[in-house]
Amino acid sequence: LSSSPRVESDAREPEFPMSRGRCPFDPPPELERRLHDEPVSRVRIWDGSEPWLFTRYEDVRALLRDSRVSADSDLPGYPPQSPGVAARRKRAKAFISMDDPDHASQRRMLTADFMVKKVERLRPHIQKIVDELIDDMLAGPKPADLVQAFALPLPSLVICELLGVPYEDRELFHRLSKVLISQEATPQQSLDAIEELLAYLSRLVEQKLKDPGDDVLSRLATEQVAAGTMTADDVAAMGQLLLVAGHETTANMIALGTVALLEHPDQLDLVRDGDPALIANAVEELLRYLTIVHTGRRRVALEDLEVAGQQIRKGDGLIAASDVANRDAEAFPDPDKLDVTRKARHHVAFGYGVHQCLGQPLARVELQVVYSTLYRRIPTLKVAAPLAELDFKNDMLVYGVHSLPVTW
Ligand code: HEM
Repeated sequence: LSSSPRVESDAREPEFPMSRGRCPFDPPPELERRLHDEPVSRVRIWDGSEPWLFTRYEDVRALLRDSRVSADSDLPGYPPQSPGVAARRKRAKAFISMDDPDHASQRRMLTADFMVKKVERLRPHIQKIVDELIDDMLAGPKPADLVQAFALPLPSLVICELLGVPYEDRELFHRLSKVLISQEATPQQSLDAIEELLAYLSRLVEQKLKDPGDDVLSRLATEQVAAGTMTADDVAAMGQLLLVAGHETTANMIALGTVALLEHPDQLDLVRDGDPALIANAVEELLRYLTIVHTGRRRVALEDLEVAGQQIRKGDGLIAASDVANRDAEAFPDPDKLDVTRKARHHVAFGYGVHQCLGQPLARVELQVVYSTLYRRIPTLKVAAPLAELDFKNDMLVYGVHSLPVTW
């Protein structure tokens, strides 16, 4: 076989993100090596730039809470995840890529909707959806695809209800989300996807202005758009972040968490019999162990600074590798072991600092209900394919499995 022709170029191949090794749950071996041998080092990314990579738990937290570090994707030196992400952020910037005070003022508009007390009230409703989805799956053919039958519908339904997005339109936002979180989408594909999603959400916001319901988009329409403090397009930019972050992440934790538990039967037994405290623990441990938002938190230095003895210059790109930080033995003894009894709530799977996940109380309740119900109601649940044949999402910004054939 002859190798495919290579375009002559001075630019060397990007080396980050790195490839995973044999175990689909572990971070890339090279990342583990850097954690041990070279905790702060340079990496080369797709655009040829060489941001700093931070791998230690303490350094990742120090970086993410440092106000001299910016999440503003428009600043020179900021290291975007992919060409597609860079292109779509230029079109629609949500508060995840803004700094305070803009970040804080937009985030504050939503804190009441996602706080623990508010979300806890949804628990019985989430339980009902979980039970109905399991009933439907059990009544359908075997094998079933757990992603399509269960993992994706649950968080999609919940975020749709919260935002006031009609669930009937899920084909549209599932299709577009896939492009938006793909690492391989071209700038044009990403721009087309973000335009279509923004147009859809802007229309919805305009409708809600005329006929508001009891949901987040209606509230933003009546409180912000009507008052002239935000445009329908601004609300749409915020809405797309919530819609995409609200279903893609939790769905992957459900499906990949199930694969991980089925591969660790002793841990699955504990979860299946578990009391609520054990389940809550298991959710944190699976979040840590899997760290599905796996391409590092991206930042840029606003000033010269020193982290872990390393001189960082103003304008240097920074990547906080939360996946390998969650495998740092200094923070989690025997870190490569999945141990659902471990106290792991201090993990950085939801990020850290001002941009720490807004939706984490909701994600926690959804995952607690799922893990406490699915394996109890289907005790013989198993994956209907060898682990090596599963299609893991190495091509996506959020890790997981593209589909998961299961039987029982
Ligand atoms: C931010 C992970 C579920 C909404 C983040 C960040 C991470 C993360 C790592 C930090 C980003 C950064 O520092 O740059 C996850 C995981 C989830 C999950 C692992 C599920 C298991 C959700 C849900 C929502 C949500 C259900 C609901 C709307 C957001 C928002 C932000 C965010 C709005 C931006 C916060 C800010 O910039 O202030 N998430 N997330 N996430 N997440 Fe989540």
